[in-house]
Amino acid sequence: MTKLQNDIFLRACKRKNVEYTPIWIMRQAGRYLPEYRAVRKKADFLTMCKTPELAAEVTIQPVDLIGVDAAIIFSDILVIPEAMGMHLEMIESKGPRLYNAIRSINDVNNLKQVDAVKDLKYVLDAVSLTKKELNGRVPLIGFAGSPWTLMTYMVEGGGSKNFAEIKKFIYNQPKAAHLLLDKISSSVAEYLSAKIEAGADAVQIFDTWGGLLSPADFQEFSLNYIEKVISKIKRKGQPVIVFAKGVHYQLDKLAESGANVIGLDWTMELGKVRSKIGNKVAIQGNLDPTVLYGSKEKIREEAVKVLKSFGKNNGHIFNLGHGILPDVPPENAKFLVDTVKEESRRFHGKK
Ligand code: CP3
Repeated sequence: MTKLQNDIFLRACKRKNVEYTPIWIMRQAGRYLPEYRAVRKKADFLTMCKTPELAAEVTIQPVDLIGVDAAIIFSDILVIPEAMGMHLEMIESKGPRLYNAIRSINDVNNLKQVDAVKDLKYVLDAVSLTKKELNGRVPLIGFAGSPWTLMTYMVEGGGSKNFAEIKKFIYNQPKAAHLLLDKISSSVAEYLSAKIEAGADAVQIFDTWGGLLSPADFQEFSLNYIEKVISKIKRKGQPVIVFAKGVHYQLDKLAESGANVIGLDWTMELGKVRSKIGNKVAIQGNLDPTVLYGSKEKIREEAVKVLKSFGKNNGHIFNLGHGILPDVPPENAKFLVDTVKEESRRFHGKK
């Protein structure tokens, strides 16, 4: 295994000493980069995911172009529902569509149990190829959707305005919902273990739709299964990051979930969260992604606010509070990375 030349992201995940605050950007391999769009012109999104050479190429683009301290494997959370037997399409400018949405216990029983090594071999091949091509420059992050977020897509059949179908499902058919969550959890745990085995240095669980739920429902339908997944991931010290969007309540419970890092959206103050949970886990976040539409001065001002809010200490990984938007100028993303690396030095080192 090649030794990492830059392991600052992994050190921060473990709350160890760092010289500056490491930064990577959710959805950093994506449409805001002209170099990504050039590859995307030649192949549709799912073909890119399923062709390890193309996935590796776009995974490494932001390392070269933006200077981030970690790469995240180019793929999608919806490859799991597809591997479970659902038909997935990415519809241009509309988003993902999963056909024959799950609406009954019968539908749940008809889903396949995923054999990650076989059914998602293309992702594992992309991970090992990317590791090889990165050649130890920065760590590689693997990821999956949380069981709740995946179930939301599987029951809605895609994105949604008011999430009526998933709410009907959990309130009217709780048994089927729990059966489905169990099935997804085993698949996700097996998948993340296989990604680590293939070379991923850390894994992130995206609970994009955790914030749809009341605190009690979040515990019952999301957190319980995140904990289950984390406890089943086979790993040798590779950190687990949980990003739960819109979950202000129960951050203390998330910090007890077994995750090493909690990712936050931009509606919370890092300082406050840190004083609540920061001695248990590292914290990742949380600049409002739309700040990248601002001027360089504004980007610097807001980035420094985030750094100041966390304050002088280890255990902070800089990121946006959600994915980078497709129409952000790439030079603004690069400016953010440079600024964080420069401005954060005064928050580290000798006190
Ligand atoms: O972060 C990265 O750079 C790695 C790649 C990555 C993608 N999707 C690529 C992608 C990651 C980590 C994801 C995760 C993902 N996918 C999530 C969780 C994160 C979040 O944003 O909350 C969700 C909810 C999805 C599902 C998904 N995939 C949606 C809703 C869409 C359509 C919206 C959109 O951004 O276009 C996708 C498509 C998708 N996934 C694209 C990319 C680069 C755009 C596809 C294209 O090139 O046309």
